[in-house]
Amino acid sequence: MNWNDYAIYYDWEFELICTNQREDIHIWKALAKKFGDSILELCCGSGRITQELIKDAHNIFAIDNSNEMLDILRAKNLPNLEILNSNMPTFKLDRKFKFAFISYSSFQQLLTLEDQITCLNNIHDHLEDGGVLAMDINPRICEGEDILPRTHSYTAKYPINNSTVTMYTSYRIDRINQVKHWRDEYLEIPQNGEEQITYVDISLKECSIDYMRLLFEKCNFEISNIYGDFDKGEVSEDSENMIYVVRKK
Ligand SMILES: C[S@@+](CC[C@H](N)C(=O)[O-])C[C@H]1O[C@@H](n2cnc3c(N)ncnc32)[C@H](O)[C@@H]1O
Repeated sequence: MNWNDYAIYYDWEFELICTNQREDIHIWKALAKKFGDSILELCCGSGRITQELIKDAHNIFAIDNSNEMLDILRAKNLPNLEILNSNMPTFKLDRKFKFAFISYSSFQQLLTLEDQITCLNNIHDHLEDGGVLAMDINPRICEGEDILPRTHSYTAKYPINNSTVTMYTSYRIDRINQVKHWRDEYLEIPQNGEEQITYVDISLKECSIDYMRLLFEKCNFEISNIYGDFDKGEVSEDSENMIYVVRKK
């Protein structure tokens, strides 16, 4: 996964195409108010959620393993923020937190059970007694055909340098390991100058509700709530996001 190459497009593309996901901010604000401070954010990226929680006067310790995403966050010059470039299953800090969270299905970037267990055990070690972990999971990763051939997604003006960006997407689903592998292609055509292509590979693992229940149980978390949307609605067959709130046992 090459988040470093994608970083320049992340905030811009999010505003352009991610309509439903932007509703997630409501639940992160509500959970941070209920369980913070101190807050550990994993996979913070360029700080889409971080910056909103800081506006609510929270103190955040934010971790991500993409230097380019973190550079964008650093450039926002936010107060009450500590930043670390590290990997969610292996980061080590000599302090503990009341509340940890992972937004935007980012936990599903861990593609093996082993990495997921290592990560949850690591977060467990970094929570105070009775501390809370929350994450949103997309339960529909492996829906659809096995293969999507290269398909035009959008063409839009990229205001950062007045170029035009055309994005093509494709994917294949590994049904054995329940992983979807996307390859997105960004064709950037500047007003004057050479066109440039950036390839972004992202893979996510399917995580059903029963799978997550077993995983949390194995890693000594008890489930406090499972919500079926970002407004804390009930889980239903139609839920497109599941928000797990679990407590350290
Ligand atoms: C979808 S973005 C989410 C960014 C932000 N949390 C949001 O909601 O907009 C996923 C982020 O996870 C980070 N990431 C991927 N694997 C990681 C890992 N193993 N450890 C830490 N960060 C990781 C990427 O660098 C990227 O910034």
